[in-house]
Amino acid sequence: MTVNDCRLIELPRFLDARGNLSFVEQKNHIPFEIKRTYWIYDVPGGETRGGHAFRKNQEFIVALSGAFDIVVDDGEQKKTFNLNRSYYGLFVPAGLWREIKNFSTNSLALEFGSEHYSKEDYIRNYETFKMLKANGEI
Ligand code: TYD
Repeated sequence: MTVNDCRLIELPRFLDARGNLSFVEQKNHIPFEIKRTYWIYDVPGGETRGGHAFRKNQEFIVALSGAFDIVVDDGEQKKTFNLNRSYYGLFVPAGLWREIKNFSTNSLALEFGSEHYSKEDYIRNYETFKMLKANGEI
């Protein structure tokens, strides 16, 4: 997987004077079966989340509120996606290093995962990540 396998996906929008509505469906807008949903909130200014890669877990990330940057890295190239609308989601395949930074005040990051939580699925050391990537192990 490379950073070019990440995809920004536009979600359906029902614009309505009473308030707008968007939705996501697994195996449709989200190209995998969802096993887990979590969210990141109350991020203090200047903080960075992420800073790891997953061996198996694929993700779909939505800025439900506010804005932030997702930096993906395949060991050779980096790419930054700015999410600032609740009707876009970023698909991040497994095997990429990723960080989430530049959170705006009161931003809310909703993340869907293809796997249940597993500590063993994380690669938290960047040099290890680069080595596994270079050896084609992830
Ligand atoms: P982590 O994935 O490291 O957060 P981030 O990538 O946003 O920096 O998770 C932080 C802590 O939360 C970690 O100790 C494990 C726990 N956690 C769960 O127990 N279940 C989950 O689904 C997630 C995402 C995290």
